[in-house]
Amino acid sequence: MDARQHRAALAALEIIEWVPAAGIPEPALPLIEKGRPVHDQRPAPQTLDQRESSTEELGWEALRARVAACTACELCRGRTQTVFGVGDPRARLVIVGEAPGAEEDRQGEPFVGPAGRLLDEMLRAIGLGREQVYICNILKCRPPNNADPTPAQAAACRPFLARQIALINPQLILAVGRVAAQNLLQVTTPLSRLRGQIHHFATVDPGASLPVWVTYHPAYLLRSPQEKARAWEDLKAVRGLLERPSP
Ligand code: URA
Repeated sequence: MDARQHRAALAALEIIEWVPAAGIPEPALPLIEKGRPVHDQRPAPQTLDQRESSTEELGWEALRARVAACTACELCRGRTQTVFGVGDPRARLVIVGEAPGAEEDRQGEPFVGPAGRLLDEMLRAIGLGREQVYICNILKCRPPNNADPTPAQAAACRPFLARQIALINPQLILAVGRVAAQNLLQVTTPLSRLRGQIHHFATVDPGASLPVWVTYHPAYLLRSPQEKARAWEDLKAVRGLLERPSP
């Protein structure tokens, strides 16, 4: 293998080329950790995402393309497609769910399965059509067996959700279900204690936040229809909050 082929092989393995720093004697064997020599004090090579422009600057189309191409976590390997979000980009209400399920993964749209049909009914109950709100999820890829998002998966996807919310700048965010609420608000409080009060989602503007209301996930309501009365209380609160004049 000549020097050029050697460099190409190292690059394919994402191992940077070994270049001894001036004045530092080269060790007998280069120590490599995560693809770079352990005593290399230079900044680590940037990942593709770091090299691209920040998510915070993207418009809708660029954001959608960034999500579609995302390989930031292992969920990219099992997806049929990413599930970006749907609805009015100028909506007053953003609904945040957990993650795509099997049907959403197939169709590329959030909340299109049985839980989605109930969500549509819940919205209709407060006079809103699906097309009048914006619907998205904490995760843009389907977790296998509909597992809860891991902290790493949620963190990898968070910039996308944050940018969607920033672009919409809604009057209110409705988090549906424990997983959505806890991840959105970055808390571990049980859903029962999150319901019934206004929370705040910190936006990228320093000191600014958007109000968040929390209710049950429609899939949970399908399994526990006795909780629909409580969900209705939440929905009435949402309607009331939306009717408030915006500050
Ligand atoms: N459940 C969710 O939380 N999101 C979806 O998109 C579908 C089901």
